[in-house]
Amino acid sequence: MTKKQNLSHKQTRAFQPEKLSKPRDFILPEVIKNAKAHRQSLVLEIGAGKGKHALLFAKANPQKQLIAIERTRNKFEAFAKLVQVQNLANLTAIHADAIAWIVQAIAPNSITQIYLLYPNPEQHNPNQQWLNMPFFEFLLSRLQVGGKIILATNIERYIDNAEEQARELWCLPTVRQEVAIDSQRTHFEIKYLARGQTCWQITMTKPEGYQTRFDDWQALSSL
Ligand SMILES: C[S@@+](CC[C@H](N)C(=O)[O-])C[C@H]1O[C@@H](n2cnc3c(N)ncnc32)[C@H](O)[C@@H]1O
Repeated sequence: MTKKQNLSHKQTRAFQPEKLSKPRDFILPEVIKNAKAHRQSLVLEIGAGKGKHALLFAKANPQKQLIAIERTRNKFEAFAKLVQVQNLANLTAIHADAIAWIVQAIAPNSITQIYLLYPNPEQHNPNQQWLNMPFFEFLLSRLQVGGKIILATNIERYIDNAEEQARELWCLPTVRQEVAIDSQRTHFEIKYLARGQTCWQITMTKPEGYQTRFDDWQALSSL
C-alpha cells in the first residue's frame, strides 16, 4: 500500500489486504494464469448463490472467462453440481469468502466486469453493504479502466445508499435503472419480481486515470 496522494475517491479508511490470511486450500485457478495469454476478459461474480446467473452468463459469453464465488456451503454445492453437469469451459466456481479470495487471486487492473446481484446483507448493519466497505477500494483496483461493477437489489434503501456512495465517495460515473419485470437472472430476482416488487440496478464504470492505494498491490500467489 503506497500511494497516498492523488486518490480518485474520498475514502479515508484504508482496507488492509496484508492482514487477511489465505483461504484454506487456496489454489490459483489455471484460468487466471491463462487469461492473459489467451486474451480472454475476466469477469467476477461475488455471492453467486446457486449459480443461475453464472451459468446463463457463461453460456451467453463464451469468449469471457467468469469466476463466480459463493461462500455458503449448501448453495455452493448446488452450484458446483450444475457446473459439473453443464461443463462450461469458461466458468469457474469458487467456494470461498470473496474478500480473502480476491485479495489472494486477482491481479490489479485485470477484471472487466464484476457482478454483485442481490447481496442483501442484514439490513441493520450498513457496514456490510459493499459500497460502505473499505474493501471496495481494493475491488476497484482490480478493475480495468472502463470496467464495470453491476449491483442489483430489491431494497430501495440499499440502492439509494449504493448510488450515493458510488457518486459521492467513490467518484464513479453511475447509471441507475429499474430491472425489467421479466428479468430472470437469479433465483432472488425471480422471487422478488414475481411478488411484484421493484428491483434496481446500478452500473458503475472505472474512469481513465482512476487511482487507488492498491494499484500496485499484488499477493505473491497471484503473480
Ligand atoms: C441473497 S443471496 C443472492 C444469491 C444470488 N446472487 C441470487 O441473486 O440469487 C447473497 C449471496 O451472497 C453470498 N455472499 C455474501 N457475502 C459473500 C462473500 N463475502 N463471499 C462470497 N459470497 C458471499 C451469500 O452466501 C449468499 O449466497
